[in-house]
Amino acid sequence: MTPFAPARLLPLVLLLTALLFALPAAAQSGPGAVAPGGGGGAPAQPGLEGQTPSPDVRSPADVPLYIPHDGRVQGRISIPDPALATLIQPGGRDWRGFRMDWLQWIGGVVILGALAALAVFYFWRGPITIERGRARRWVPRFNSIDRFAHWTTALGFIALMLSGLVLTFGRFVLIPIMGHGSFAPLADWSKYLHMASSVPFVLGLLLMLGLWIRDNIPTRADLIWLRQAGGLFSRHSVHPESGRFNAGQKGLFWLVVLGGLAMALTGYLLMTPFYYTGIAGMQIIHIIHALLAMVLTAVIFGHIYIGTVGMEGAFDAMGRGVVDENWAIEHHKGWYDEQCRAGRIIPGDRMPQAGDD
Ligand code: HEM
Repeated sequence: MTPFAPARLLPLVLLLTALLFALPAAAQSGPGAVAPGGGGGAPAQPGLEGQTPSPDVRSPADVPLYIPHDGRVQGRISIPDPALATLIQPGGRDWRGFRMDWLQWIGGVVILGALAALAVFYFWRGPITIERGRARRWVPRFNSIDRFAHWTTALGFIALMLSGLVLTFGRFVLIPIMGHGSFAPLADWSKYLHMASSVPFVLGLLLMLGLWIRDNIPTRADLIWLRQAGGLFSRHSVHPESGRFNAGQKGLFWLVVLGGLAMALTGYLLMTPFYYTGIAGMQIIHIIHALLAMVLTAVIFGHIYIGTVGMEGAFDAMGRGVVDENWAIEHHKGWYDEQCRAGRIIPGDRMPQAGDD
């Protein structure tokens, strides 16, 4: 088999990253563009074109600057973009309330709640061990392309998550600790990291979709796994049978693929402000993006837990690409039987190393 060289994909990733940085600038000068803060949905004010200051206007006090209208605070302007006449719109106040208040609470509860639940689960259940001990025979589970797809997605996601958390909670959590002077460059770099890391995330996600979709189609056996909650909440050995992926993993796969693509779509729309939608659309897109991010972050914490300290032998699958035979029998019996029939079990005391495949 020709060795897979992930480095060959690097120029493509760099090119897409550069294009992505160019997008917001292009959007600002695009046909539907308005200046930031402008109300994309404001009605045009007829008859303002070519207007010159009236001789009656002698001081700013003579100008009827604010005209209350539909709850908006609207002014009169003579520049071409009518959207800029809206100074305040009611939807903006609601959105600001979400951004500055609700999002902090929802995000805090979801993320800290997930961490607390995992800590409780760890102390109550402890790591899920390989009951019959390690067989020291190996079953290949993920080849180098699988692992490349997984780690590209994972690193992209972790960079997105960390930079997203700085942008969301930084004002409230970090500024009191580090001050405005240090936070400003951190927030600036987080913004660039957030945009750039979407490229490996999306490419990895599409690769993962192509590679694993076949093994993630729901089957009848998934119902049994779900009914028993995968045996996760039993302290004794309960291992509902599953194929290559169990129902929990299939759920994660679809959540990550569909949720991740929705994050990407809403994120790219946010990077091209007012290009495809007005201000109300931008606000809805931002709310979807932010709430989905909190849910995915909490779910991924659970995934990282089970892939590391939560389950003995799980990390080998993504680290070395192989799993211990007894791990395979206990967690994925149906898939293990297929591997046996195909003669894929590797004997020997030495765990195959990354790059052997
Ligand atoms: C440090 C971070 C991570 C670790 C340690 C980790 C670990 C693992 C491991 C060990 C597996 C294989 C499980 C098996 O053999 O059955 C796996 C699979 C998978 N990972 Fe990760 N992962 C991490 C981050 C992520 C992230 C950020 C995503 C997506 C955004 C992700 C998505 C997946 C998916 C979809 C699978 C296949 C389904 C499954 O096995 O659950 N992983 N991961």
